[in-house]
Amino acid sequence: MELREDLRDLKPYAPGKLVPGVLKLASNENPLGASPLGVAALKNAADSVYLYPDGAAVALREALSAELGVSANQILLGNGSDEVLTLIAGAYLRPGDKAITGDVTFSEYHFAVRLFGGSVQFVPLKDGAFDLTAIGAAVDAKTKIVFVCNPNNPTGGYFSAQALEGLLKKVSPSVLVVLDEAYAHYVEATDYPDSMRLLNKYPNLLVLRTFSKIYGLAALRVGYAVASSQVVEHLSVVRQPFNVGTLGQVAAKAALADKAFVEKSRLVNREGVKFWTKAFQDLKLFFFPTQANFIAVKVDRDAQAVFNAMLEAGVTIRPMTSFGLKDWIRITIGTGEQNALCLKALTHALDTVPLIR
Ligand SMILES: Cc1ncc(COP(=O)(O)O)c(C=O)c1O
Repeated sequence: MELREDLRDLKPYAPGKLVPGVLKLASNENPLGASPLGVAALKNAADSVYLYPDGAAVALREALSAELGVSANQILLGNGSDEVLTLIAGAYLRPGDKAITGDVTFSEYHFAVRLFGGSVQFVPLKDGAFDLTAIGAAVDAKTKIVFVCNPNNPTGGYFSAQALEGLLKKVSPSVLVVLDEAYAHYVEATDYPDSMRLLNKYPNLLVLRTFSKIYGLAALRVGYAVASSQVVEHLSVVRQPFNVGTLGQVAAKAALADKAFVEKSRLVNREGVKFWTKAFQDLKLFFFPTQANFIAVKVDRDAQAVFNAMLEAGVTIRPMTSFGLKDWIRITIGTGEQNALCLKALTHALDTVPLIR
């Protein structure tokens, strides 16, 4: 067997490390756990797992339609939003086509594009957020897809409604703009885009969301695209018939109605952002202000060594080495208690790992 030549430089995805007995603040999961309504619903549905799932996920799509104020035929579910990314690339890219995204951002845009023989142009971020003016300027005749992440993983920065409309007005309607809003629920900024409102005006806009973050259902793998019904039809052509399991569908539908859990999660996150902002200021570390449930900080030390030292102290975080930032780490914001433990672990690392400047 020979791996396709054009894939040989790719490395398998390195997930956040799960170590038994160690606090994991590495993968931007919900520190409060899963939505209790979601878990109750999946327990109720457990006996039905001998049946194939509803391949059209009608009940969940209808619930999302009501929640988001869009038609159910504008919604496509995926096995996590990760899968939706590969469906997008599979539906729209031919070998040699170009996609554009930010440098640095979530690695799966690059993965999905390369899987289907496309290439990616990376446009530098500005102050930890996507620079939509620079991205608009980079779009050319070969560009088929633009991936933008708002707020951006791993930096937590965001762009405004005005900046987004500027990009949408500039690019040709034949270029698909994928707007990844995995962390939208955590945003506090008042000029954050109301993306659902833009879908009718811009049929080339696709918004990506997930149940993995604020709803706490990462293990169930449920994400979705909201787009024009035509784009949803195209993605449906390349979708496997039963891509989202029954337990995921029922839990996601119940979690969507779990307003109290979402509100509490937001509140805990808001407190956590304040905690880390003060902590990094006290430690005189440079960091990006965040609108998400994680925060990126420049530790001025080898990130992998900082990771190891923090692991010794009982916490895993994400070294940003794989993003090309060798002296940065990303910390998922936890509960008050978790943040305090993580800060202790970070202080231990800063005391024991040598500076590289
Ligand atoms: C920006 C972004 N998009 C998408 C995903 C994938 O989410 P899912 O669990 O729905 O595949 C993540 C997960 O970390 C993410 O950070």
